[in-house]
Amino acid sequence: MIRCQNLTFSAGGKRILDAVTADAPPGRITALVGPNGAGKSTLLGLMGRLKEPERGQVMLGAEDAAGIPRPIFARRLTALRQATRITPRLTVCDLVGFGRYPHNPGHLTKEDQRIVEACMTDMALDDLADRQIDTLSGGQQQRALIAMVLAQETEILLLDEPLNNLDLSHARRVMNNLSARSRAGRTIVTVLHDLTIAARFADHVVALKDGRVHAEGSPDEVFTPEVLRELYGAEVEVHRINGKPVILPI
Ligand SMILES: Nc1ncnc2c1ncn2[C@@H]1O[C@H](COP(=O)(O)OP(=O)(O)OP(=O)(O)O)[C@@H](O)[C@H]1O
Ligand SMILES: [Mg+2]
Repeated sequence: MIRCQNLTFSAGGKRILDAVTADAPPGRITALVGPNGAGKSTLLGLMGRLKEPERGQVMLGAEDAAGIPRPIFARRLTALRQATRITPRLTVCDLVGFGRYPHNPGHLTKEDQRIVEACMTDMALDDLADRQIDTLSGGQQQRALIAMVLAQETEILLLDEPLNNLDLSHARRVMNNLSARSRAGRTIVTVLHDLTIAARFADHVVALKDGRVHAEGSPDEVFTPEVLRELYGAEVEVHRINGKPVILPI
């Protein structure tokens, strides 16, 4: 369980998160949704200790995340950032191999290599393993970054808009892979803008607006026309297919 308690954060003289209290249940996918500028990336950054809160704390189970030594924290939690700059002169295989660094700095064991290869296969990168990152398309680069994050095999995964640049088939591949990992006990928090995908794959939803929690609950509870109208200031229709909400802007 990740528990954000009363997280407050400011930058540039502006309050960006205001007393945010929200949970990400263990072994589940939590979708972080809300309009541009709501504070989703900031909240994910605080969970991943990329930023320090002004007030409040992030609990991992019964432990205060701030008290966990960095090397141990890096083996428990990994984060995919929204905009990641990667060294161009690196092959896909090398990049994914970096994911093993917190476990085995310096060299990859046979087991590390096995994990790297499995994660490349998971992200359909086998044919691209020896390509340099800067020769890849946007979606191919995104899949390489996701494979690097998966290769870390941490119990907690934080992903900021992992579906950026991905086509329907690869988006489905990523979400199915995250589902399988959550069923295997991993705790996943992911920022998603596609609410129908969020409804299809997430177990729990946290909706942020203007730096505060606007709604939190199951997709059924959060994805209603009333909640979404207030959240986005836009009219939507919510239909149901196979029991899951499908959200259409109108
Ligand atoms: N260093 C900073 N200085 C000033 N304002 C900042 C800073 N970092 C973030 N902000 C502001 O904080 C707000 C929240 O930013 P954040 O990146 O968390 O939003 P988001 O919900 O992830 O949005 P998006 O969906 O566009 O990615 C935005 O209004 C942003 O402009
Ligand atoms: Mg963001």
